[in-house]
Amino acid sequence: MQLISIAAPPLTGQARVPGDKSISHRALMFGALAVGRSTVEGLLEGEDVLRTAEAMRRLGAEVVRRDDGIWQLYGRGVGGLAEPEDVLDMGNAGTGARLLMGLVATHPFTTVFTGDASLRSRPMRRVSEPLGRMGAGFVSRSGGRLPLAVIGTASPIPISYELPVPSAQVKSAVLLAGLNAPGATTVVESAPTRDHTELMLRGFGAEVAVDALPDGGRAVTIKGHPELTGRAIKVPGDPSSAAFPVVAALLVPHSRITVPGVGTNPLRCGLFQTLKEMGADLQWQNARDEAGEPVADLVAGHSALKGVDVPPERAPSMIDEYPVLAIAAAFAAGTTRMRGLAELRVKESDRLAAVARGLQACGVRFEVEGDDLIVHGDGRPPDGGATIAVNLDHRIAMSFLVMGMASRRPVQIDDAAAIGTSFPGFVSLMNGLGARISEVQP
Ligand code: S3P
Repeated sequence: MQLISIAAPPLTGQARVPGDKSISHRALMFGALAVGRSTVEGLLEGEDVLRTAEAMRRLGAEVVRRDDGIWQLYGRGVGGLAEPEDVLDMGNAGTGARLLMGLVATHPFTTVFTGDASLRSRPMRRVSEPLGRMGAGFVSRSGGRLPLAVIGTASPIPISYELPVPSAQVKSAVLLAGLNAPGATTVVESAPTRDHTELMLRGFGAEVAVDALPDGGRAVTIKGHPELTGRAIKVPGDPSSAAFPVVAALLVPHSRITVPGVGTNPLRCGLFQTLKEMGADLQWQNARDEAGEPVADLVAGHSALKGVDVPPERAPSMIDEYPVLAIAAAFAAGTTRMRGLAELRVKESDRLAAVARGLQACGVRFEVEGDDLIVHGDGRPPDGGATIAVNLDHRIAMSFLVMGMASRRPVQIDDAAAIGTSFPGFVSLMNGLGARISEVQP
């Protein structure tokens, strides 16, 4: 289905975004490992997370969605997963695939993973390399890509591993493998990445030590064979999804919206910090803690933005938000330099290339210099008037629909399907605020 987004009148009202994708995947995985009952309220029911739910069932856990919308799990205990009878198809979900590869690497059976064309093109050696050191074997397609079989080891070796790329998925894969290894497994990261695995595993009863390193990095150590006990989890609204209505409200004149219950984990909030530096009218209200994660209501109003420098060390805390930040930068007065975006090239698509193509088509002035994206705005709406190729990438789809809400001419996307991986109900939520996004009749 193709969608078109035309200039929107002022956006107003409440935008309740779906549950956090990173936290939802982890809640299902850890609930499937815990002894006894876990409940998950506010789970993101997007395709990515539903694939993880199905995978956990196939690995032997009881996973049901109750009539009241709460997900309920009875886990198998650490080390208690069972060999799946068939291939696990993880769809578009890199987080689901990579974290599960870690989990099964230290179980004595073989698990075969596949996914959609996007996931099958993504690099998996970043996970299989450290998991191989722990004793697991891998048979994969060329380039270490899916379909891929993990031959789990019966005698796992705990390791200390320094991340070569700042990736919470790789960190989590190694830590999850370490759950069923004897002794201590350590991951060292030179720049802190999202820490939902550490926070949630602690909540389930694991011993997780986090040491700050003098160079600003962290060493995360997990003690093997913990007893994880079922618990109740409340999933906060996803800040990466909140990014779309928030940026839309900043760009569409006279808008003011509230996004209630958004996760404010500092390792996820680089976009909001950057937008504030650009002069955005953004406030956090009613800050509170919900099941171990900080949460607040986010209020955003139309703002005249100015260009800023976004330092490379901020990238891990806003890695999924650069596409929509590039849209905001196109409306800002002056130049926005987004530096150190190498990891954007290996997301659901090559997002650096996709954003560049889209900006070009919409008449925005920009340069890509190495791993940096430099966008020049003049404080006026860009032309728009293009059709953007989504290439199975949900964040590219949503970012350019936001562009169309405030650009001079409408913006179309060639395929809306990917939006459902992380943000089911995106179009009706945005239209509920005042947006004019509709299906293009063939
Ligand atoms: C995620 C980590 C990030 C992010 C992805 C979710 C996670 O990926 O882009 O959407 O839940 O751990 P990387 O670890 O590859 O940076």
